[in-house]
Amino acid sequence: MTGELSPIDTAKFAAARRAADIVENGMQVGLGTGSTAAWLVRCLGERVCDTGLQIKCVPTSARTATLAREVGIDVISLNEAKWLDLTIDGADEFDGDGHLIKGGGGALLWEKIVATASDRMVVIADSHKKVECLGAFPLPVELIPFGWETTKKLVEQVLITLGFEEQNSILRMNGDQNYRTDEGNHIIDLHLHRIPEPRQLASLLNQVPGVVESGLFVDTCDTVIVGFGDGGVEVRDIEKK
Ligand code: A5P
Repeated sequence: MTGELSPIDTAKFAAARRAADIVENGMQVGLGTGSTAAWLVRCLGERVCDTGLQIKCVPTSARTATLAREVGIDVISLNEAKWLDLTIDGADEFDGDGHLIKGGGGALLWEKIVATASDRMVVIADSHKKVECLGAFPLPVELIPFGWETTKKLVEQVLITLGFEEQNSILRMNGDQNYRTDEGNHIIDLHLHRIPEPRQLASLLNQVPGVVESGLFVDTCDTVIVGFGDGGVEVRDIEKK
């Protein structure tokens, strides 16, 4: 399944493989999106095919759904599952409190709904995703298409109110078209550099009409499995405050 991997892919694979071992027979599992989550889906597919592991999975994007079906995983909708035992997903950044930036791959909305509907969320990430303070990675914010330019201005006003002087919000593009999520929405990426109060920012962004969700995941993650380039892993359980 792996062939010759770069150190970064070795790290992602190591974290994903460890996370796949947590999954037990009979579980309903949320499947994340992104390159790390794709390794997880392949590892789970291998367990399903080789050992007869019986699981039902809810993917967080159309592309994860396609991969999951390809590797033999039983895919169901969140409405069918209603609630999940576990969600395993990647992240763009995580801090020492287990707060995350997600959505680099554009799937933040389904990812947040699925993670919230789970008894436990496990994040799998290579060690470079660990930060002291969130924000070096641009924060994705999903907007509905109606009046998105006005919504973008309202978001910028929130940022000014919070004292973000150096900020830049950029509409995500797909070629010469506005990027569309699986829900048909747009994304703006906020270049904020440092987000000292992620809880406050997440709450204020969600109050702007037209904003569907932000990529700030606060108090959602229960465990981070960190992968390293030599194939080692570290499992960190997050103490919720
Ligand atoms: C997808 O929308 C994101 O939230 C991903 O989980 C995140 O971008 C991590 O992706 P990689 O595993 O590809 O770095």
